[in-house]
Amino acid sequence: MASGTPESKSKLFTSSAGPLPLWAGAAILVSAAGAILVLGLLAVSVMERRWEAQRPTMVATPIAQWEPDNAVWGQSYPRQYESYLKTRITDTRTKFGGADPRDYLEEDSFQVILFAGYGFSKEYLQARGHYYAVQDVRETARIATPFQAATCWTCKSTDVPRMMDKMGVKEFYAANFHDLTSEITHPIGCQDCHDPNTLRLRITRPALREAFAAMGRSIDEASHQEMRSLVCTQCHAEYYFKTDESAGLKNYLTFPWPKGTTADDMLAYYDAIDFADYVHPISGARIVKAQHPDYELYRTGVHSFRDVSCADCHMPYRTEGGVKFTDHHVQSPLLNIANSCAVCHRWSEDELRGRVEGIQTKVSEAMLQAEEALVHAHFDIAAAVQAGTADDDLRAARALVRGAQFRWDYVSATNGMGFHSPQESMRLLGEAANLAQQARVDAARLLARHGVTSAPRYPDVSTRQKAWDVAQSFVGGAGVKLLP
Ligand code: HEC
Ligand code: HEC
Ligand code: HEC
Ligand code: HEC
Repeated sequence: MASGTPESKSKLFTSSAGPLPLWAGAAILVSAAGAILVLGLLAVSVMERRWEAQRPTMVATPIAQWEPDNAVWGQSYPRQYESYLKTRITDTRTKFGGADPRDYLEEDSFQVILFAGYGFSKEYLQARGHYYAVQDVRETARIATPFQAATCWTCKSTDVPRMMDKMGVKEFYAANFHDLTSEITHPIGCQDCHDPNTLRLRITRPALREAFAAMGRSIDEASHQEMRSLVCTQCHAEYYFKTDESAGLKNYLTFPWPKGTTADDMLAYYDAIDFADYVHPISGARIVKAQHPDYELYRTGVHSFRDVSCADCHMPYRTEGGVKFTDHHVQSPLLNIANSCAVCHRWSEDELRGRVEGIQTKVSEAMLQAEEALVHAHFDIAAAVQAGTADDDLRAARALVRGAQFRWDYVSATNGMGFHSPQESMRLLGEAANLAQQARVDAARLLARHGVTSAPRYPDVSTRQKAWDVAQSFVGGAGVKLLP
């Protein structure tokens, strides 16, 4: 008879010697509750032990120091390997993310103008799974030049630490991308984040280590929880290629962090060294292309403030056959809300998704507005040039456009459409729009000085092809006529 039936209950509270005193029932309840608690604690401790036992203190088959092959690691750690292999999946889409590589330029032709004359106006696809990193960098139209810095390999492959060890770090960066194609074949994987002997999280990329040192911190002192973000930060951060002949550096991968990691800090650093990735062919502004500052934007958000790591959301724990392990299918957390968010938030999946998409939709609207202002600002300055304005007089307007475009791109190039830090994203986009409009006011004054008082004739850039043709007219020559 099940113990929950009325019959069994009444038996429990009576005895052959007559009814028990009232307090006895309470005492039995309390001791039963105590027993359940003890059993529960025991179960938790057993589970933890089992979990500890799987923790990689000893490795089944020794893994060589620079072993790049994920399948070799997978022999000892099949669960992590099999879940890692799921980064092959590409048919997932969320409102703004997922692993199906969106074509940003098809969806948003303004970006063709904003990156005019630069590789990103030729091809700009949304990121997909780690499994494709090597294949995608080989295939991108952006590397189709006879010399391309080998630095571009840095965040794509487990062969990189091995090659850096063999060649030397400086020498690796200075090499030609195309000369290393036969050596670099394994996509992002175990080697990038783990020590092969202890399986502890480790930093394999010098740029992050050096960036910490430049801020006066040692990365070896980072906490375990920080490491669960820092392994990602090796690649998901803003960077530039530093060339300094006197120091023997060519295309040396560098994080612009000495003044700090906010957008303002980084731009101040770039301004101080007068760095530009390209000179914009339409406005002549010196542009810094932001490169997915995922970690830096995340740092300004509430989850970072509350010590929630990248891995907490993107690599949640999973249980399979009673075994708990880290899900290595790194992807959009919106495809796995139950494991990645609901651990901390007691909201329904629909509420959580709705909340995220609500934030992202607002950010994407603000982003488009900033883009529109920026596109106009580039053309307004070009019109001032066509009216005969001297370079000296355009300095202020061009600096404003540089500041506006970096702030916009800092949000735009960062993955997650602002979710990682909604307030900071909106602040930066607001600033971007404001600075772009100031540049436009400046250009209008300069035009007026040359007797032009009506608005420039803005060309049609509403499709990718139209925008491309307009951009090319400035790359090759004086550009389409903008003066009324
Ligand atoms: C609080 C949870 C959370 C944390 C912490 C977090 N992310 Fe995200 N991340 C998200 C969400 C939600 C998205 C939006 C996914 C979408 O739009 O489908 C996202 C998107 C992304 C994307 C784009 C994925 C896609 O499919 O478009 C990348 C890359 C990313 N995050 C990297 C990081 C990195 C690196 C860190 C740490 C520096 C980090 N995230 C921290 C929740 C988180
Ligand atoms: C992008 C970084 C990254 C990559 C790539 C990666 N891991 Fe991990 N791995 C982690 C993180 C983060 C944890 C959680 C560690 C912790 O909190 O101690 C983890 C945990 C583990 C653990 C400990 C047990 C567990 O599941 O939590 C093993 C074993 C492991 N990974 C094996 C692998 C193998 C094998 C590969 C390659 C197929 C791999 N990892 C690739 C980041 C990575
Ligand atoms: C060695 C460099 C490297 C490391 C380490 C790394 N990533 Fe990535 N990540 C990339 C690159 C490169 C891509 C784009 C791959 C492509 O599109 O071919 C990417 C793509 C992604 C995506 C998009 C996947 C999708 O399905 O949309 C997410 C999410 C992501 N990374 C999160 C993380 C997180 C979280 C960590 C740390 C646990 C991490 N990454 C560590 C380089 C790295
Ligand atoms: C490890 C715990 C943890 C995980 C995992 C986590 N969050 Fe959070 N989240 C927090 C904490 C802590 C806060 C700060 C507010 C609070 O204390 O309640 C927060 C705040 C938020 C907020 C409010 C943000 C704001 O600025 O007001 C949203 C929205 C949110 N989380 C969504 C998500 C989503 C979506 C995921 C999964 C992708 C997620 N969280 C995963 C702990 C977590």
